[in-house]
Amino acid sequence: MVPPVSAPTAVGSPAASPQAIGTPEAPAFKEPVKDTILTPRFYTTDFDAMAAMDLRPNEEELEAICEEFRKDYNRHHFVRDHAFDGAAETMDLETRRVFVEFLEQSCTSEFSGFLLYKELSRRIKQKNPLLAECFAHMARDEARHAGFLNKSMADFGLQLDLGFLTAHKAYTKFSPEHIFYATYLSEKIGYWRYITIYRHLEKHPESKIFPIFNFFENWCQDENRHGDFFDALMKAVPSTVTGWRSRLWCRFFLLAVFATMYVRDVARKEFYEALGLDARTYDQLVIRKTNETSARVFPVVLDVESPAFWNGLETMVRNNEALSAVDASGGPAPLRTLRKLPHWIGNGVQMLRLFLRPAISSDRFQPAVR
Ligand SMILES: [Fe+2]
Ligand SMILES: [Fe+2]
Repeated sequence: MVPPVSAPTAVGSPAASPQAIGTPEAPAFKEPVKDTILTPRFYTTDFDAMAAMDLRPNEEELEAICEEFRKDYNRHHFVRDHAFDGAAETMDLETRRVFVEFLEQSCTSEFSGFLLYKELSRRIKQKNPLLAECFAHMARDEARHAGFLNKSMADFGLQLDLGFLTAHKAYTKFSPEHIFYATYLSEKIGYWRYITIYRHLEKHPESKIFPIFNFFENWCQDENRHGDFFDALMKAVPSTVTGWRSRLWCRFFLLAVFATMYVRDVARKEFYEALGLDARTYDQLVIRKTNETSARVFPVVLDVESPAFWNGLETMVRNNEALSAVDASGGPAPLRTLRKLPHWIGNGVQMLRLFLRPAISSDRFQPAVR
């Protein structure tokens, strides 16, 4: 999974009505939602720098992880069963809308991971075969995840045109170390998101609105292994997790990923309500767990126990609601931009404030695993 990494400003346009287009027998290609700072992004990087990386400081661990990837534990996992038959028809209209939106966002992030890993494996194959092989295995997993989600979209008469997305989405270029921070976080956050939903639904089977959630336990193990791979990779290139620059960047990426997720999930709280979850409580748990996990490799993590941290995120939630209200009110575009300006500035200021808050040194936070 690769989620967006940037300061939140406004939520994307709502998904088209799932009833409007196509049938399960002949799914229509769904127009991708408009790109915003909260929609999943596609990434590219400096392939030569990646190929030239010397992995010797942690080659053994990377080789062991690659061996795990070769075992392909989930080879037979993603097979649809009879539980999917007719499941889409049992959903009420509002749940359908938020669920299809969830499927689309998830499919796009999984597919974004596939594209990045696939391209990396192809471009560095000659010069860095071990790294290339790891990326190829991860691309295999992400393609499987994206395909499985897209099949569920077909149950609702929709499908994402992945070929169109590949050709037309804007690609954000990150240096290899920034790719490491962003993808490490997205894999680990993906793990905690999926496992938290899975465990909740285990206790509340009445809230399992679609059989895809039955697959989350093994699925999240793929994401966990992908995260462990980036952990090992950063340890192979110690400059990425030592020194003052990496401390600043790790803080930035943690904050950007957490804030984006929080604002987006609260704005789509209806989806979590449909699962019997409160979006805020769910996100708080996922953020705490991901922050704790990140201390295994990042030199610093965020102080997520401080009320000031959560207050800052809530300010951004309110700014985001104000931005959506401006969009909903219509009127000429230049006027809307003008009315949005204070809320954009408000988000910028809030991000800066949160960024400047003291971070916690990981040595103190999780000494046992470092
Ligand atoms: Fe995935
Ligand atoms: Fe992944």
